[in-house]
Amino acid sequence: MPKIQFLGPDPHEVDVAPGTSVLEAARACGAQVGSACGGNLACSTCHVWVRQGLDSLSEIDEREDDIMDKAFDVRPESRLGCQARCSDADLVVEITRESRKAFLDEHPDQAAAATR
Ligand code: FES
Repeated sequence: MPKIQFLGPDPHEVDVAPGTSVLEAARACGAQVGSACGGNLACSTCHVWVRQGLDSLSEIDEREDDIMDKAFDVRPESRLGCQARCSDADLVVEITRESRKAFLDEHPDQAAAATR
């Protein structure tokens, strides 16, 4: 079972079944990955940088590439969490600032806790 480690101010780690998306993994462990469109490939708020395991993820397609154009600070290791599905390799994923901000906008209770 692959392990996904989320880096950021509030790090998390979770074991998931192969085929799980990065966003689904984040939801399973409480990692702060935004998803303003609900994982429907329409917003880019789930933008993450994959620090380890990038090549093991599902292929990026044209639609993901198009939506990625809306994101800030896109890098070679960028993926949209709702589209990138893991295989059997472990991943290390850094949550982008824009994604964490989107998450905290969606979860004001956690945003308040983060400022305490
Ligand atoms: S959650 Fe909106 S594009 Fe991934």
